[in-house]
Amino acid sequence: MCGIVGYIGKNEAKNVLIDGLAKLEYRGYDSAGISVLNNKITTVKAKGQLANLVKKSKDFNLEGNIGIGHTRWATHGEPSDLNSHPHLTENKKISVVHNGIIENYEELREELKNKGKKFVSQTDTEVVPHLIETFYEGNLLDAVIKATKRIEGSYALGVICEDEPDTVVAVRKDSPLIVGLGDGENFIASDIPAILKHTKDVYLLNDKEFVVLEKDKVTLFDENKNEIKKDVYKVTFDDTAAQKGGFDHFMLKEIYEQPKAIKDTLAGRVIPKERIVLDNIDKDAFQNIERIFIVACGTAYHAGLIGKNAIERLSGVPVDVDIASEFRYRNPILTKNTLVMVISQSGETADTLAALRLSKERGCKTFAITNVVGSSVSREADYVLYTHAGPEIAVASTKAYITQLVALYTFALYLAQDRNYIEREKIESIKEELLTLSDKVEKSLENSKISKEIAQKIHKETDIFYLGRGMDYAVAMEGSLKLKEISYIHSEPYAGGELKHGPIALIENGTVVICLNTNKELRGKMDSNIKEVVTRGAYIVGVIPESYTDNLETYNTIIRIPDTDPILSPVASVVPLQLIAYYVAIEKDCNVDKPRNLAKSVTVE
Ligand code: G6P
Repeated sequence: MCGIVGYIGKNEAKNVLIDGLAKLEYRGYDSAGISVLNNKITTVKAKGQLANLVKKSKDFNLEGNIGIGHTRWATHGEPSDLNSHPHLTENKKISVVHNGIIENYEELREELKNKGKKFVSQTDTEVVPHLIETFYEGNLLDAVIKATKRIEGSYALGVICEDEPDTVVAVRKDSPLIVGLGDGENFIASDIPAILKHTKDVYLLNDKEFVVLEKDKVTLFDENKNEIKKDVYKVTFDDTAAQKGGFDHFMLKEIYEQPKAIKDTLAGRVIPKERIVLDNIDKDAFQNIERIFIVACGTAYHAGLIGKNAIERLSGVPVDVDIASEFRYRNPILTKNTLVMVISQSGETADTLAALRLSKERGCKTFAITNVVGSSVSREADYVLYTHAGPEIAVASTKAYITQLVALYTFALYLAQDRNYIEREKIESIKEELLTLSDKVEKSLENSKISKEIAQKIHKETDIFYLGRGMDYAVAMEGSLKLKEISYIHSEPYAGGELKHGPIALIENGTVVICLNTNKELRGKMDSNIKEVVTRGAYIVGVIPESYTDNLETYNTIIRIPDTDPILSPVASVVPLQLIAYYVAIEKDCNVDKPRNLAKSVTVE
């Protein structure tokens, strides 16, 4: 949700900023802007995608080696040139980019207006440059420290000042920010891919750590202006991981990266006939756990639903799954023997983070599954299990989801090995099967042609249903979400047995129903549910295992997936649903990687 970049060094700031913003566009793309400092601050902002800014900036002299940039996902104030960042003081001497929400901005705005400050936008951010100006007495860092003491809410800030032409000042609280360390140049950014072209050495900042970025030096301070020392974190992936690599879209590339992401997530953790080892987690860490809450948003929540099934079936520990924005407000019963597991690709989702903090306050053990090293949830949870999906750029999550499933299976088996809930042989056989999933996904991908044909057939529909029982139902939810997110077709997932309690009234001649039917034990019942909609004229797309040969005449189109233990089937069965959503969006000429109104990392509640 909003991306910021800052640069100081030997190169043209404009190019570095625009290039960095392109890598951060997944965080928001309602508008973008940059300020470059060269004696004076020159600022260009444009509504819409970054391309508009690039075009507009050709009309300005933006030479200079220091600057800040921003790509926006609007919260306060509609997307417009005026509401775009950077925001400046009236005399244009101080320029600020911000990611987060200033909760007390109305009060600050009134106060600053009374002091004669003029506001031109509807944003919460605009109070920040004015506030910094009121505290400025010749030292930008001091003024930013003082200003943040007045700000409530979340922020990652990048600030430049005409009177300090050799410095960018930055700080974070509850919004991500990293520092990139170059040779004769230094960077700040909301996320690593923005600076990866230039350096792999970064500082991962904690809340309320202040940065003074100079060409040849980066100095970090706490809020009392004591200098802090920090280890340099070496990024393990390279710039190519955040490029399309010959694919038309990041989403398609990321779908095809899934076999590798699965392998990488299992590597070193799941080994046949050996105990599962979770990085830096003590063998007895979860011995006393009597109940687990899985808390997440969006796609990660859907992964949690599958995790619940796997953990309960394999380890016997009861699991509740909560949407993070609901969890905090329903006063959940948490004890010291409760484990709260948060799942978050970005590790920065505001509601998920808030749920984690609440759980810590209540004295529970906390566990994070996340894809981003050094992200807020990874730093704040007691235990972390990283998914190794690599950078996920497309807003609609695919490879991160599949690795969340794999991490959850790994965790479930880890718990199972000390709980005697199921037989050792069963644990071993699921482990072995887990290790075949990468190949099975590869096989599902070989079938992509059929998903494309289905997309060509269904892309003009206005309502599409997804049906499944058990884990298939959870996968149906994810398939339906993918379609909604990127093709804007209304779609609903339903549990097979629930349809007749109301929604079946919506089924008419030709209504498309995508039915997942992968579990032998539930097949009879699911076959009946499918017949209920066939009788009402539905057009049925079936996602079924290769070995399934009964009732094939019920389906209008069949997608085969490799056979697997039913517990693990979601990993292979979600792939055709991802592809259907992708190809439908292509047929409809939608912006696949940057769907309207969405942002990849939602850092507001
Ligand atoms: C946003 C994204 C979704 C994502 C959700 C949770 O809504 O558009 O793709 O699933 O946030 O994000 P997280 O980073 O916490 O997994």
